[in-house]
Amino acid sequence: MLTLVVLISGTGSNLRALLEAASHPGFPARVIAVGADRDADGLAHAEEFGIPAFTVPYTAFPSREAWGQELVEQLDAWNPDLIVLSGLMRLLPAAVVARYAPRIVNTHPAYLPEFPGAHGVRDALAAGVSRTGASVIVVDDGIDSGPVLAQERIPVLPGDTESTLHDRIKPVERRLLIDVVQRIATGELTL
Ligand code: GRF
Repeated sequence: MLTLVVLISGTGSNLRALLEAASHPGFPARVIAVGADRDADGLAHAEEFGIPAFTVPYTAFPSREAWGQELVEQLDAWNPDLIVLSGLMRLLPAAVVARYAPRIVNTHPAYLPEFPGAHGVRDALAAGVSRTGASVIVVDDGIDSGPVLAQERIPVLPGDTESTLHDRIKPVERRLLIDVVQRIATGELTL
């Protein structure tokens, strides 16, 4: 059974989908803890599913590195097989990546390497492209620059706003994430 720690910053819809998938007896992975960099709304999903949660508030630390040190301590306490960044809106400090790579995956609301960074949906709209996408990648030291594990194209529709487009991307992200976790857990996908 593959053990997961999921890190979030926001509403945690991807987290919730993973929790639902993992609650099926046949699913080969379990979420053992959920972590956040702030008082994220998504922590409520962990509570609802009876999964332990921890918060390492980014703003409580003097530097990204200091925050990363505490994050490593929390992660080490759970010692997960895989870390899933599911809407964590922080660049992971190098120390965290060095300790867990390549066992860290991230979901991204664009077709990487197109539109990396914190505003993948907004940037695709601003560029006027007719299609964008969703990706699941291995996290490395860069910004959304690691190897792509799964991705899918999603059309940009006339009249799309950042919010309508993101709402269409997220279900695809969820599906890709669950599929990638499952394939890692069964050994079909090797990191
Ligand atoms: C997802 O689109 C993720 O890729 C992006 O932020 C969103 C998080 O959504 N970085 P949620 O918190 O899972 O609802």
